[in-house]
Amino acid sequence: MKIRIFESREECLNAGAMAFIKYALAHPVCTIGCCTGTTTEPIHEMISEIYRKNPFDASGISTVNADEYLVPKGYDKGNVWMRPRMQKSLWDALGIEGDRANMPNCNPDDWDAEAARYEKRVRELKVGLQMLGVGPDAHLGFCLPGTPFKSETHVVAVSPTITEGIIRDEGVDPKWGPFYGITMGLKTFMMGKMTMPIVSGSHKAEAAANAILGPVTEDVPASILQLHPDCTWLLDKEAAEGIIGRITPDGVRIK
Ligand code: GLP
Repeated sequence: MKIRIFESREECLNAGAMAFIKYALAHPVCTIGCCTGTTTEPIHEMISEIYRKNPFDASGISTVNADEYLVPKGYDKGNVWMRPRMQKSLWDALGIEGDRANMPNCNPDDWDAEAARYEKRVRELKVGLQMLGVGPDAHLGFCLPGTPFKSETHVVAVSPTITEGIIRDEGVDPKWGPFYGITMGLKTFMMGKMTMPIVSGSHKAEAAANAILGPVTEDVPASILQLHPDCTWLLDKEAAEGIIGRITPDGVRIK
């Protein structure tokens, strides 16, 4: 485990963008695991901005997204799904399209069959770099506390916090709930050759400390990353407040 701590959110997210580009340049044909969210979308925008100014060869990059909402059966009133956000923040700029732009289908006939198809697709593509947003309860994708470490891509009811967001931010009538999504499982995330969780903000400091220094437990989904052979955490100072002085950059605990 490696730990990189940055003075500001901007520097932390910029390091995430550079890591993506560096990986893509060193591996012209590669698969990068992506997430949507308030941490990773600005990173995508930074990558797109750099690409627009200094285009690099992105023709061999495939991406696989961690998760996607499922359209409630019968709902036809607009778009609250993640795909357009990937389109806007990353795919359009880099020209990632077709079978290189992977995300679970938000409206399949058979939800479980779609989850199984997606798991197969992720395995075929073999993720090289898995970038990860981390929730304030240390969740990864939609894998909330209590998700089995052996979980593969699966259908899941989204958390109450995400449900609130769907209703408040997207204007979806609560009558369409409960809301569900498809997420890569914790086992799926661990298959990436390199993993890079990125955390910003003091509201995630406890989650980061628990995930990095606490016991490896299903109660703290991101703690599984302690078992990954090549994991680099990117944290801004605020998110790192619970680990500063307690661990070296090489992941050695300070007694
Ligand atoms: C959300 C998403 C994840 C995301 C994570 C962190 O619930 N399902 O894909 O990585 O939680 O999001 P944020 O960066 O906005 O805190």
